[in-house]
Amino acid sequence: MSLVPFHDRDGFIWMDGKLVPWRDAQVHVLTHGLHYASAVFEGERAYGGAIYKCTEHSARLRQSAELLDFEIPFSVAEIDAAKMATLKANGQTDAYVRPIAWRGSEMMGVSAQHNTIHLAIATWEWPSYFDPATKMKGIRLDIADYRRPDPATAPSTSKAAGLYMICTISKHRAEKKGYADALMFDWQGRVAECTGANVFFIKDGQVHTPLADCFLDGITRRTVIDLCRKRGFEVIERRIMPEELSSFNECFITGTAAEVTPVSEIGPYFYTPGNMSKTIMEDYTAEVTPKAAAA
Ligand SMILES: Cc1ncc(COP(=O)(O)O)c(C=O)c1O
Repeated sequence: MSLVPFHDRDGFIWMDGKLVPWRDAQVHVLTHGLHYASAVFEGERAYGGAIYKCTEHSARLRQSAELLDFEIPFSVAEIDAAKMATLKANGQTDAYVRPIAWRGSEMMGVSAQHNTIHLAIATWEWPSYFDPATKMKGIRLDIADYRRPDPATAPSTSKAAGLYMICTISKHRAEKKGYADALMFDWQGRVAECTGANVFFIKDGQVHTPLADCFLDGITRRTVIDLCRKRGFEVIERRIMPEELSSFNECFITGTAAEVTPVSEIGPYFYTPGNMSKTIMEDYTAEVTPKAAAA
């Protein structure tokens, strides 16, 4: 883990239309986004110089903002170009890409009708963790106390900063107990997702994953569903109850950061990462590898 704080690094951050030196990309302490969580973000990865599903991420960023009742003053094409410009300015090809949009400081109260909307994009080196032997050991998951919120209480399908409050608390509690992450149930007590990744299970050659109707329907989740179907693996999106956790043979999580990561334990339940997880992991690696680089 890097101990260099994120505010004190070399490089460039794209901010409101131009590249600025990394350390100058600052916001004022009286910023609506900070006080009222009026911020949305993306997490993306560049592989061999190409951002995987770049345009889908830009579109989701704009959609997340719309769900929070604000409009990002840049089009999807402009956001795509800005992300590439940031990677180029930082001389990176394999990197994590973090766009964030937030309400500024014109009004400081719950109402923010006249606040300007800002957009910043940072990129940093984060080589993908593709060592299959290590990954196949699987990670251990705790079961979180907090639940994914009812769509009637929060814009639960937005990648909104405020929704991560319970994720950080849950992940900290898990880490204190020695787990890598935590599985969260939804507001009705059904299996939902992890604090920053979606979850899949395997039983009798079929792939099962919770219906993504009250949490982020990850871009990796959808990619993996397609890859499974291309392989001829049946994928069933359905309600999954906690009582079923003991009945699955394999489990893995998916996300831009996690990619496809096998799971060996969830609380008292044990899984053995096997051939299907390995195949899906390898198919995902092939999928994100730029075709020219793979050839
Ligand atoms: C809460 C949550 N769920 C799921 C995901 C997976 O989404 P994606 O595959 O689009 O990265 C993420 C990662 O961004 C996340 O933060």
